[in-house]
Amino acid sequence: MKHLTSLYDLNPSDLSDILARATDLKALFKKGERPPLLQGRVLAQLFEKPSLRTRNSFEAAMIHLGGSGIFLTTAEAGLNGRESLPDIAKVLSSFSDVITMRTYSHQLIVDFAKHSCCPVINGLSDERHPCQALTDLLTIQETLGTLQDVHLAFVGDGNNVAMSLAIASAMAGMKMTLAAPKGFELSNAFLKELTKRYPQHRVHQVHSAAAAVKSADIVYTDVWASMGQEEDAVRRMQAFTEFQVNEELMKTAPKDAKFMHDLPAKRGLEVTDGVMDGSQSIVFQQAENRMHLARGLFAWILGK
Ligand code: CP
Ligand code: NVA
Repeated sequence: MKHLTSLYDLNPSDLSDILARATDLKALFKKGERPPLLQGRVLAQLFEKPSLRTRNSFEAAMIHLGGSGIFLTTAEAGLNGRESLPDIAKVLSSFSDVITMRTYSHQLIVDFAKHSCCPVINGLSDERHPCQALTDLLTIQETLGTLQDVHLAFVGDGNNVAMSLAIASAMAGMKMTLAAPKGFELSNAFLKELTKRYPQHRVHQVHSAAAAVKSADIVYTDVWASMGQEEDAVRRMQAFTEFQVNEELMKTAPKDAKFMHDLPAKRGLEVTDGVMDGSQSIVFQQAENRMHLARGLFAWILGK
């Protein structure tokens, strides 16, 4: 049985298999074919934070594959102290075929998975967002035709999305540059672990958005204040002023560079309307792909 708490749970060959599965199922879906590969299967979703894309793309994916979904907040599950985490994991997994979780603490998902008798998939924690990064690879591959040597410039916070993209780019043979203000880069501890696992890969970190996007194939950004950092939003807004992805910044990138954002976007902060809705933006293809990736991932993780 496999879990996906972080992309470190996968090897590069798993990654290719999941992307291939998602690509095939998307092609069938576009032809109106929805093979009921997971007929009668149950997805349980346990979310501590709000979600439009992750929750609903997971549920839609399971329904399209012939299964169904149940949803509970961590309070409803009893994770507020009503009962112990191992007991909750044992009980919920005994009713379910696959569980997705969205939490503050990353360790909570890791601990839950240890006691679950079905696969557990991370739908975002404070440290990781693996399904987003897998979706981003799917989107880049279908847009550029390859992942090898693609240069992704992430302009923004060294957060959960940036960390998962850094691991994904190492696994896929991509180049990644992160442009962040001082104090918001990827941590040394994270980079040390990444280098230990993927010694040939280096994330290039700079403090200038223009320098990062100069030779980028993909310009990527995310919110400056993630869920749980609301109280720090004003300080972050000030720190990130020079890191907005706007039309002027896009002019310093190659003409055919694409713009990506995991969404939700704070329009007017990390990205302008002109870039979000502009001809280089592939953000809504990227958002739709959350569902196609989820179908590929569920089929793969359940061996179908
Ligand atoms: N990108 C993403 O995970 O969106 P949600 O927070 O809406 O799930
Ligand atoms: N970094 C953001 C991603 C939202 C999908 C957050 O954690 O809120």
